[in-house]
Amino acid sequence: MLWAERLPWLPLLVTVHCFADEQLWELHAKLVDAQDYPKLTEKVYPYLITPSLRAFSAHFFLVLREPHFNTCRWTNAIRITEDIVELGFSIDMLRTVNRCGPGFDHLCKFYDEPLIRRSPKLDAVFRSKAPNGYVGFLIGRYWAEEEPLCPHQLQSDEDPFIVMQHPFRRLHPKPDVWGEWLSRSLQYAGLDEWNPGNPGNPDEIVKMAVQAAPDVCIHSVQDAWSALWPQAPPKSMIVLGCSDMNHDPTSPLLEKGAGGLFIDVSSKLIENAQRKWSAPHRMILNIKAQPHNIAELLKNYSSYVEDVEVLQVDVDTMDGRLVEELLAHTKPRAVVVEVRDSLPFPFRYACLTHDTKHLPWGGANFAFWLHLLRRHGLHLVRMDLRDAVFARTEAPTIRTFLGAMACYLRKFVLVPTPLQAMELWTRKTLREIDRKTVLRHHWIASHPPDVIEEIWRNMTTTSPDVRFHLDV
Ligand SMILES: *[C@@H]1O[C@H](CO)[C@@H](O)[C@H](O)[C@H]1NC(C)=O
Ligand SMILES: *[C@@H]1O[C@H](CO)[C@@H](O)[C@H](O)[C@H]1NC(C)=O
Repeated sequence: MLWAERLPWLPLLVTVHCFADEQLWELHAKLVDAQDYPKLTEKVYPYLITPSLRAFSAHFFLVLREPHFNTCRWTNAIRITEDIVELGFSIDMLRTVNRCGPGFDHLCKFYDEPLIRRSPKLDAVFRSKAPNGYVGFLIGRYWAEEEPLCPHQLQSDEDPFIVMQHPFRRLHPKPDVWGEWLSRSLQYAGLDEWNPGNPGNPDEIVKMAVQAAPDVCIHSVQDAWSALWPQAPPKSMIVLGCSDMNHDPTSPLLEKGAGGLFIDVSSKLIENAQRKWSAPHRMILNIKAQPHNIAELLKNYSSYVEDVEVLQVDVDTMDGRLVEELLAHTKPRAVVVEVRDSLPFPFRYACLTHDTKHLPWGGANFAFWLHLLRRHGLHLVRMDLRDAVFARTEAPTIRTFLGAMACYLRKFVLVPTPLQAMELWTRKTLREIDRKTVLRHHWIASHPPDVIEEIWRNMTTTSPDVRFHLDV
């Protein structure tokens, strides 16, 4: 009975203390005077506030830094002073403010002092720029970030960062979540190098992942091409869901002269695209691309799609099926897809319908793309907050795979926006945190076969009409 043999080194392994995991749960916060850095203001949606409020406000940034990745996110934090109350504005009126300017871009939320003081550390963050007290702060919904490093100005402001607990920490009662999650992810990665003992220690796995993340994480995948494609532009590309072709991940390749087939369902956007980008080697079409007509489409426009080198698909619905069909007929060197994070890794999700019934369930998620594209010899090379570039490169090593996972963790899992962090830091109980986040983290921390039925039930109960693919 070989399996019952005691492994003499096992007790040693279980006593390893996972420092790296705890470090992932640190989040640093501070306020920075926005007046000093007008350039950084442009990156957040423009600061605007009604004229009546302007006289009683001062403009700061609420900055959140992830120390292990040394990246920052920041948003507007507008301090409201006592004067405003003396002039007849009540706190209740301020609580109803949800816009700090005329546009949708200026959505914000008011946090009064008693709410902020629920967290003494958070109070310290805000008090640093309001030594004489404050009525409250309006916090912007939109935020900015830069890669790969936190902007120097945000770090060099005289006030130190206050060390906060990551707002999602409370969702994970057990320690060492990320070490275990990364180890589990390796089992689903299909790497040749991997076996249950290599690499063994979850702490080492977390460290390796965090170190390798900058190789994959990028501010915008548009910036990926100069390294991936230093020579001539690709001869031909296929872009499904090209909009007006101006702000696509592959726009830099168009600018260098790439041709191909470009499709979008919006006639207005296609008109604009044709006006700017028409050329003899480009076919720009206003039709709806469907999985069943891909083969015919490629045949009809064969002269534009000879030796296709790049595919890009972003139609917000059946992206997964469309990429599958395209790969059945082409052999591109790079594929760009949108990563929708409807379900966390390692669950593979892809939408199978044009009509998502107003649910944010279109497209396909990270695990789905990794799996599908790997079967075609394409591996993740760069990823931003939205899109991922896969290329025909060597299969990932354990290190590069972990780097990709850490990038995913940073961009899609441990991503409180500043406003979301404020919400979570000022709430008392877990029950008050939105159910979706709670459930998602429960699925992340679980052994996947134990929860996949539950996920299926949840999704089919929520909307029985939306067809999708789910697997692990
Ligand atoms: C392909 O061309 C045929 C003949 O012109 C046309 O009937 C068909 O609709 C085209 N299909 C697509 C998908 O463009
Ligand atoms: C499914 O999950 C959502 C949160 O994402 C939750 O609000 C809902 O109650 C769940 N439904 C079922 C049937 O479990």
